[in-house]
Amino acid sequence: MQTEIINYSVPSDLDNAAKIIKHGGLVVFPTETVYGLGADATNEAAVKKIYRAKGRPSDNPLIIHIANISDADKYVYTNKLFYLLAETFMPGPFTVVLPAKEIIPMCTRGGLKTVALRCPENNIARLLIKKSGVPIAAPSANLSGSPSPTRFEHVFDDMNGRVDVLIDGGECDIGLESTIVKIDDDSVTLLRPGKITIEQMEQLGVKVNVSSSVKKLVSKGEAVLSPGMKYKHYAPKAPLILVDSDIKKLVTYISEAEFDKNIAIIAYSEEIDFVKESLPYIHVYDFGKKHDTETQAHMLFKLLRDTDEKEYSVIFAPLPSENGLGLALYNRMIRAAAHKIIRM
Ligand code: TXA
Ligand code: MG
Repeated sequence: MQTEIINYSVPSDLDNAAKIIKHGGLVVFPTETVYGLGADATNEAAVKKIYRAKGRPSDNPLIIHIANISDADKYVYTNKLFYLLAETFMPGPFTVVLPAKEIIPMCTRGGLKTVALRCPENNIARLLIKKSGVPIAAPSANLSGSPSPTRFEHVFDDMNGRVDVLIDGGECDIGLESTIVKIDDDSVTLLRPGKITIEQMEQLGVKVNVSSSVKKLVSKGEAVLSPGMKYKHYAPKAPLILVDSDIKKLVTYISEAEFDKNIAIIAYSEEIDFVKESLPYIHVYDFGKKHDTETQAHMLFKLLRDTDEKEYSVIFAPLPSENGLGLALYNRMIRAAAHKIIRM
């Protein structure tokens, strides 16, 4: 398939991309979280193309993206709690799961009675949805099993030749996918942590339950609230080991253990010089400062993709905290590491 590349500069550049969505085609577009692989959410044939282009199992449902919160009632059954959360967190990196209306075909929602709905903040995403005049179903625009794409190079590598249009929107601001909550009458259940934190929702007086799959991997056959949690995710080619310790102990451990020299460490900025001095042969990647979880979120998927290009025998990275945005990093990193954690 011939893929057209749009370097977004003026809004009219999006007219063609919007036309392609309206006519059942596939468009990769930037959002503030990660790039999305979009099609008309109400068009079954178009949605099936998304699953094919990504290599995604058809029982793993998609998020539908709308431009205005006031459109939500067209597609889902809303309630008071939805409007309380939407007022504060939408548009933004926040996705809600609610009972679906008939207009959303079964294949978009993976056969479920509910559908996930998000109103992105990114200007290009919003214009594309407005101009196409339909809700856009979009998973992250990576091939199934790769880290979500946060830069244009990533979507070019994964999706060129598989979609009609790639829109170049530069780097995604946040770099981790949206927070997902299932909304019930009086409480929400966190299905996937992201930039909008549990603490922020609790500040609104909302009761937040946390799905068990947020902090651990799902075992085979276990029932899950979010089908995506069943699948292996974000795995780099080299084994990733999370380290719950300080950098000095890690450096001693590596120098005493019999690793070959083709090792990488993802380290906090403050630790880079120490690692380079102690283990000059090691490849070090800068994860941002220790308490700067926003930079770490922005960097994580890029670093995982970068390390994939070098065939390391093992990669070490710090185990993040489980507070605030740390929980989103923790959730993505324990999956990437298949829960390999060393504590020293
Ligand atoms: O930031 C984001 O959310 C990005 C951008 C493109 O918007 N999208 C994204 O989509 O991350 P995706 O498909 O990669 O992840 C959506 C997750 C999947 O794990 C899926 O199983 C879950 O949401 N999901 C979708 N619909 C659901 C539903 N009705 N109930 C429970 N989980 C659902
Ligand atoms: Mg994804």
